[in-house]
Amino acid sequence: MTRNPAKHPAIPSRRHWGLLGAAFAVLVAASVLLIAQTAQYFSFDFRFAFFLERPFLTTDRVWAACFYMHVAGGILCLATAPLLLWNGLARGHQGLHRALGRIHAVAALGWVGPTGLYLAPFAKGGAAGQLGFLLLGLWFVATSGLGIVAIRRRDLRAHVAWMVRSYALILSALSFRILHRVLHELGVAATTNYVASTWASLVLAIVSGEVLGRRLASTWREPALVPAAIP
Ligand code: HEM
Repeated sequence: MTRNPAKHPAIPSRRHWGLLGAAFAVLVAASVLLIAQTAQYFSFDFRFAFFLERPFLTTDRVWAACFYMHVAGGILCLATAPLLLWNGLARGHQGLHRALGRIHAVAALGWVGPTGLYLAPFAKGGAAGQLGFLLLGLWFVATSGLGIVAIRRRDLRAHVAWMVRSYALILSALSFRILHRVLHELGVAATTNYVASTWASLVLAIVSGEVLGRRLASTWREPALVPAAIP
């Protein structure tokens, strides 16, 4: 039976589904490009500009291990987050959502967050750049953790809000690269560019995550993805 969105505000209208679908397609395409680009680090070749700028760090085994775990976790988060978002909004298969969610939680809280926090004090851009990455890491761990706590309490609205905030932070890896490229083309000096791109992508992620997270959580009332009991 097809329900009328006008009588059920929790159900998106056809127009909203169209907008969601278009936004989703853009996100998936951009995420695939970023995954393809960052996966090149797994050639384990230290000739990338990122390594050449940090020659003293590439010989540090702990830093290198954290870096590769970070990129692997980032790729997993980028790959699973749009699927989780779409599957959740479409109220798809609970089993699939939970399996992907567990992979995402391990990648976010076990890999990307802790390794990002480890890498932060070594980041380019001095104290300003390092503080930006530190805040990104702390807010990422907090939002991802609170999203998981919320669903274990079967609080779907809070889960949606926190996971959208967390996803916006994952996407800051994408906006950082776009901003960095634009500022580079505009002739902004390398270090200034790095710090400005770090902070601009962080602020954009926090603000967009807050706005979208609140909006999606407030319009999504049906407890479609909440299983009877979470083991
Ligand atoms: C959201 C939490 C994240 C935090 C806290 C974080 C933190 C960091 C830090 C501190 C660095 C080192 C910067 C430097 O040394 O100058 C870095 C680099 C990097 N991160 Fe993340 N990151 C996050 C998300 C992601 C995601 C989702 C990806 C996706 C693949 C990613 C991929 C990378 C890559 C590839 C680099 C190497 C630099 C480059 O190629 O631009 N990170 N990250």
